[in-house]
Amino acid sequence: MSEFIAQEKILILDFGSQYTQLIARRIREANVYCEIRPYTQPPREDELGMLKGLILSGGPASVYAPDAPHLDPSALALGVPVLGICYGMQLMTQLLGGEVEPAADREFGHAEISVIGESRLFVGLREPQSVWMSHGDRVARLPDGFRPIARSANSPCAAMASADDRMFGVQFHPEVVHSPRGRELLANFVHTVCGCGDSWNMGNFLELEVDRIQRTVGPDDRVILGLSGGVDSTVVAGLMGRAIGTRCTCIFVDNGLLRWKEAEEVCAFFADWTEIEFVHVDASEQFLSALAGVSDPETKRKIIGRVFIEVFDAAAAKVDGANWLAQGTLYPDVIESVSPRGGPSATIKSHHNVGGLPDDMKLSLIEPLRDLFKDEVRELGAQLGIDHARLWRHPFPGPGLAIRVLGEVTQERCDLLRQADRIYIEELRSAGLYDAIWQAFAVLLPVKAVGVMGDERTYEAVCAVRAVTSTDGMTADWFDMPRPVLARVSSRIINEVRGINRVVYDISSKPPGTIEWE
Ligand code: XMP
Repeated sequence: MSEFIAQEKILILDFGSQYTQLIARRIREANVYCEIRPYTQPPREDELGMLKGLILSGGPASVYAPDAPHLDPSALALGVPVLGICYGMQLMTQLLGGEVEPAADREFGHAEISVIGESRLFVGLREPQSVWMSHGDRVARLPDGFRPIARSANSPCAAMASADDRMFGVQFHPEVVHSPRGRELLANFVHTVCGCGDSWNMGNFLELEVDRIQRTVGPDDRVILGLSGGVDSTVVAGLMGRAIGTRCTCIFVDNGLLRWKEAEEVCAFFADWTEIEFVHVDASEQFLSALAGVSDPETKRKIIGRVFIEVFDAAAAKVDGANWLAQGTLYPDVIESVSPRGGPSATIKSHHNVGGLPDDMKLSLIEPLRDLFKDEVRELGAQLGIDHARLWRHPFPGPGLAIRVLGEVTQERCDLLRQADRIYIEELRSAGLYDAIWQAFAVLLPVKAVGVMGDERTYEAVCAVRAVTSTDGMTADWFDMPRPVLARVSSRIINEVRGINRVVYDISSKPPGTIEWE
């Protein structure tokens, strides 16, 4: 359950749509707090005061299928405004006595809708508009008192409203970017229909969260935080520093698998940050010797995870009186997801940024970002005064260069890769491309190739450079890199890095490839 106590909130009941998180992000962009819950957890008595609206998400099922996810009709009789999206609209129709049937022509992709008459949902949105449809069923007969408020070529009722303009259904998906005015429609729902103010913003959140941390962590308590230098742990450090100052000890484990001068840079950044206590543990030798002779990627990951816990536990044990562990868990990691079939088998994803709780330390967990999406974490970081470059760094995997040095990991090969990667990222930054790319990095291949430099034959390593675009890392496409940038990267790496004589550009998408090579 959420830790944030909202004055007003919108509840999104999830029926298994792949877009449910997008609905939540749109609502929050409208400065309104919202939560996602599985459809099996309808509103509770104790939250009725703050609950301003209910959204029923889409989902892959058909309402008339025998195992279709259902909702107790009492959830629609709370007096709270309701918006049903796609499956949510069909379910609402069925629960309120209307009829749903398979559509003669299924609608997938772009459609044009025309708005019919007046309604509070379409205030300011009266002209025909493009929307994204994805449905095989449609509303055949509206519930009593409802009227159609939009139509498309294949849906005479693409949107509907109740007589009192408090309950709405839309057949399309306003939450996706392919419904360009959907953002305004959702804003109309939360502001005009539900009457929510603009209470959710990162300035407010910062104040409330600092206060909550101060009330949660007792005056004699001490918190430890595993710091990676990445966005999430840095923002947690900023928050903890603001709330409890030096009663938070941040432990940075340098595993020797970081990028060019990264460890020095993280230390310099936090050394200047006197609000918190910063501990730097240089464990590079420990990690590299544990990895010696190991080539299998999953074995490398396991070794790194194990050594991390050993090193972190040892460092944490030296912090006197530590009784809390802070982690940068985000909202997408704590949402209970409904399985794609929409069945009742909700699964909870767990996440441990620091590789697991030390069992014998009896630490309580504090997760100040667990109500936030990644973009909100960045906004919060900006409120805390953290610089743009740090907040917009590309993601970097926990096992670091160990999974980018293919095959055996040695100090020498890590150093070679660090030089190539530094040049590559420098060139992307100077071409102004860094922020347009989700993740970019160099990979050292376990093969050698023949080359010629001057009159000399060379026989050296091959380096691959990769750049992908993505929104969540789940799927990705290779970045269409301008030729002059590729030319500069290749020429600089081959000329400046002794030991690499060939550079290749990776043009694989995910799927079927993955972002990392190991
Ligand atoms: P893949 O390679 O699975 O990567 O397409 C998706 C995202 O996850 C990152 N990644 C990892 N992160 N530990 C991590 O903390 C890992 O073992 C790991 N493997 C991949 C990868 O960098 C990309 O952002």
